[in-house]
Amino acid sequence: MIEKRILSKEVSLRIGQKVKLAGWVDVRRDHGKIIFIDLRDKEGLTQLVFLPENKELYEKATSLRPEWVVLVEGEVKARPKGMINPKIATGEIEIAVENLEILSEAKTPPFDINTDGSQISEDKRLKFRYLDLRRERLKNNLILRDKVIQFMRQWLGKEDFIEIETPILTKSTPEGARDYIVPSRLEPGKFYALPQSPQQYKQLLMVAGFEKYFQIARCFRDEDTRGDRQPEFTQLDLETSFMSQEEILDLIERLYADIVKNISPDKKFTQTPFPRISYKEAMEKYGTDKPDLRKDKNDPNELAFCFIVDFPMFEWREEEKRWDAVHHPFTRPQSEDIEEIKECPEKIMGFQYDFVCNGYEIGGGSLRTYRPEILEAVFEVMGHKKEQIREKFGHLLEAFSYGVPPHGGIAPGIDRFVMILAGEPNIREVIAFPKTGDGRDLMMIAPSEVDEKQLKELHLKILSNEK
Ligand code: AMO
Repeated sequence: MIEKRILSKEVSLRIGQKVKLAGWVDVRRDHGKIIFIDLRDKEGLTQLVFLPENKELYEKATSLRPEWVVLVEGEVKARPKGMINPKIATGEIEIAVENLEILSEAKTPPFDINTDGSQISEDKRLKFRYLDLRRERLKNNLILRDKVIQFMRQWLGKEDFIEIETPILTKSTPEGARDYIVPSRLEPGKFYALPQSPQQYKQLLMVAGFEKYFQIARCFRDEDTRGDRQPEFTQLDLETSFMSQEEILDLIERLYADIVKNISPDKKFTQTPFPRISYKEAMEKYGTDKPDLRKDKNDPNELAFCFIVDFPMFEWREEEKRWDAVHHPFTRPQSEDIEEIKECPEKIMGFQYDFVCNGYEIGGGSLRTYRPEILEAVFEVMGHKKEQIREKFGHLLEAFSYGVPPHGGIAPGIDRFVMILAGEPNIREVIAFPKTGDGRDLMMIAPSEVDEKQLKELHLKILSNEK
């Protein structure tokens, strides 16, 4: 324990006082006889000064190298006029060091930490992510992410939402991607699935009567990774009872407008209220369901939010020769006519909406079907047999037979939104420990093999490890 240590942000107010600071050697500069060290802590940089008069201390300072961790004590002094650095918060002061303790030494880092890192190969950055995260840019991205999440929590709390955690070891749900599965030790041959989203749980929470739920939820999808996709990512998952589609969109619009105004006040909205554009109009006018509506695409401070609404309920999958849900099967069709749903699926629209910003889909949601007979009809259109429906979704259908409120929700992706706010080109830059394009964690070296003993306990045998 280092008692009474202060952070760099407090130091400027303490001119003339003795202080104790700890952190990393950021840079060392030798100016003639004087040694300057920029000491870096979680809040920023502070300049340390070592003069040759104190020989022992001076010699010790000579040995310091970047990234060593040190503890210093000394007096806060105003810098001489010409030495003031207006670029940093502590630019008007420096510490005349009286005591230096080296807490740990460091090898030379495999790459430069004082750049924005864009020139360094990403594999290297990910392998040494704990060093990469020392970089100013990445540190700021994670601080921004934290601010956004804290703001969401508080804002939704004020709107009477409560945060409820749902299981990670669960059952496969149809969100359209492949599941990650986890073998059960106690039930040989059976598996849990990691949630692609908490979709069914949040609907069950509505049956349970919570009315306004949210969660900062981790989701897992075994799909090909790209710039705005990771195998695990984070959603602001949200569900409400008795609200209309427009009420849900209005809630999200108010939340996001407030986040931007409070956290990134230099950003400008292209248009408010956020336009609601039908899927048909978006496709006809922009050729995409996630149009980039910015007036000036070179302006890093422009945010063009919009909602895409009225999606078709089903799409035809030629390879599988069957209809599939465009969003997911729990979306409420805009028709309540069961015959029509079964006979003309191509004509049916869903109460489904996407939330779009600067050409990225930053959220998706829908009103849900709460009438069991309509849910069954939707599954039938998708080619599920009655027994399959019972086996896979029996719990939901049963829950719906005990008094289910009309409900609906949305799940904005947090990674994508923070990426846009931070002006980053991909979501890996706003995730502390992301995976590579082929789904690996280069630092932990995962996925990896497991012991024969572990496999045995799980009743598993590897038949082949060829790709
Ligand atoms: P959906 O599948 O549309 O909806 O996902 C919602 C939002 O999550 C983000 N997202 C991702 N972000 C990073 N990496 C990924 N692999 C990834 N996949 C999705 C996107 C997307 O818009 N349960 C429903 C929501 C609901 O109906 O309430 C769902 O998950 O920003």
